[in-house]
Amino acid sequence: MFKKIPGTKDILPEETGRWQKIEEAARRIFRLYNYSEVRTPIIEDIGLFNRSLGQSSEIIQKQMFVIKNASDTYALRPEGTASVVRAYLENNLDKNQGLVKFYYLGPMFRLERPQKGRLRQFHHLGCEVIGSASPMVDVEVISLADALLKAFSITGYSIQINSLGCTKDKKELTRLLEKGLKPKLSRFCADCQVRFKRNVLRILDCKNETCKEEVAKLNLKDNYLCSDCKGHAQKVMQGLDSLKIKYEVNPYLVRGLDYYTRTVFEIKHSALGAQDAVGAGGRYDNLIKELGGPDAAAMGFAFGMERLLLSAAGDTAPEKEELVYLITLGEAAEKEGLKILNGLRQAGVSCDTDYEGKSLKGAMRRANDACARYVLILGEDELKKKVIALKDMQSGQQQEVPLDKLTAELKNRLRY
Ligand code: HAM
Repeated sequence: MFKKIPGTKDILPEETGRWQKIEEAARRIFRLYNYSEVRTPIIEDIGLFNRSLGQSSEIIQKQMFVIKNASDTYALRPEGTASVVRAYLENNLDKNQGLVKFYYLGPMFRLERPQKGRLRQFHHLGCEVIGSASPMVDVEVISLADALLKAFSITGYSIQINSLGCTKDKKELTRLLEKGLKPKLSRFCADCQVRFKRNVLRILDCKNETCKEEVAKLNLKDNYLCSDCKGHAQKVMQGLDSLKIKYEVNPYLVRGLDYYTRTVFEIKHSALGAQDAVGAGGRYDNLIKELGGPDAAAMGFAFGMERLLLSAAGDTAPEKEELVYLITLGEAAEKEGLKILNGLRQAGVSCDTDYEGKSLKGAMRRANDACARYVLILGEDELKKKVIALKDMQSGQQQEVPLDKLTAELKNRLRY
């Protein structure tokens, strides 16, 4: 028998209710903030990601699912931002619209070593705002992330923010780190030795205790930021304060993707263990230009759906609609039953049958397994009298209802 690939998951009906609850709440909140849904292909030209995410990023180095044919090389998307920007430019949205606000839900793919909260196929729930450099956009986006978590009834998370500054500031930060860390490099872990050569910024969020201590000794502040970027960061913090959104400034927060400039943020949750980021995002003011578009600034974030579900661990699936279960006895009743089911469904009553012509006892067992609220029994006698037996599975009471009054009777009894 075939098995699923490591790092992928089957999401079975007992779990999909919780997914739908989060998805529905997310759509409601995104609508409140006037964000519209976009759906982009899960497969893209590999060049899009090579250009966007940074050659030194782990994703480009070793995590892409690559598909090659004779003439082209594609990749399964490892994240949504690059695809959304591609769609924005390809569909000329930069020319027709001012500020655009998108949200998206869907699978992403990274060739990772699977562990709790780290999958090879996982799902993003994210958003991107393209066309404004205003710090108020940063405030809206971070407050939207906070509003989503509240709508999912998730508590116990912390929002950490930092500013990486503009391209010049990032270079200055890189220079400061190279200068400060070079004399002590031998004390750093093997990964950081490589990071020092490839992208020294990544040393800042190394999880190794010794590396963390050495980095802390650098006593990093925001002294690499130019006055514009400092002003931007202050306005973002003032805006968050005015909305009473709790956050911590973490000068060691950098992101694994190279496109970020200025504001970056990460939301951590203690229920997640080693992979503690439930979501993350930031500004990427150069990416649109980098991909051939105009000089448009942008900001966004993505939550990992699987990690949202782990963070909302006490949450339960929404209640299902009450089910009506039809049992038919004999061929004539089966034929009539098909019409009854159709009529009830058209009237908005959730109902089912097993189509297997089982005995009454076997069919009742099925109805019980399906947690039916009411059972309808239609045999030869009932057909002749143009009635149907209606059994209330809670009280155990049974009565005959004229077939032409059945829909009205059930609608009257059911909650919906
Ligand atoms: P990211 O931090 O790579 O950012 O991913 C966002 C979130 O996706 C993470 O915080 C985590 O919850 C989840 N995630 C990432 N990798 C995995 C994995 N292998 N298994 C399970 N969950 C995972 C981005 O992708 C950016 N595109 C976010 C963004 C949008 N920035 C601006 N706009």
